[in-house]
Amino acid sequence: STMKWIEVNSYDEMSAVAANIFTEQLKAKPASILGLATGGSPVGMYKELVKRQQAGDITFKNVKTFNLDEYVGLDQSSPASYWTFMHENLFNHVDMKEENIQLPNGKVDDLAAECVAYDDRIAEAGGIDLQLLGIGVNGHIGFNEPGTSFTSLTNIVELTESTRTENAIYFDDPADVPTQAITMGIQSIMNAKAIVLIAFGEKKLEAIEKLKSGVVTEDFPASQLLNHPNVTIIYGGTK
Ligand code: GLP
Repeated sequence: STMKWIEVNSYDEMSAVAANIFTEQLKAKPASILGLATGGSPVGMYKELVKRQQAGDITFKNVKTFNLDEYVGLDQSSPASYWTFMHENLFNHVDMKEENIQLPNGKVDDLAAECVAYDDRIAEAGGIDLQLLGIGVNGHIGFNEPGTSFTSLTNIVELTESTRTENAIYFDDPADVPTQAITMGIQSIMNAKAIVLIAFGEKKLEAIEKLKSGVVTEDFPASQLLNHPNVTIIYGGTK
């Protein structure tokens, strides 16, 4: 595997290193297609990118973004939707054009059609230049849970209890966490030209160790990244 490993000493250092990679991407190609992620891991990097955009160092004027996933059944405007998360953490604070922002829509009647359309929209835009990923404690990427086929495209998934518990902090009542999500598949993620995965802290160590062991198995979704030619893992934290 050609995977590049960057060990960092703090969450802030992880965020800065990841922001540097995105900054270089935007400088090299101002009309980049970015693949974005939600969760606690990218918040610091988004803050850093907002600072750099507001300082005039980078611009999102011609950038298009595609997010990895969204809950099924939540309105875009729901406080816990990934649409809201992305607007609060990044889009509202930079010079993005709303029409260049894409997230899968988990509130349409025909979810199967939305899945196909989402991969089509990514392809029509020219494919993702740089994809950001976090990792779940069970090795999930996007919402692709263990056992997901490596050939999967955007699809509807049942969330595991582990994932629902992990994400309960974003909801008033843990019972409100949706049971399904719409997520880019493993193959949709692998189609990105370059990938950056960020993971910091004790909770993520085991997943990072597993990835490092080099075993590729559908029981550990992130392991398929070992077969991608351009992946950088930025990680750190101790027990
Ligand atoms: C959710 C998201 C994933 C994310 C994971 C880890 O399940 N769908 O894309 O990587 O949580 O989140 P965090 O970064 O908050 O640990």
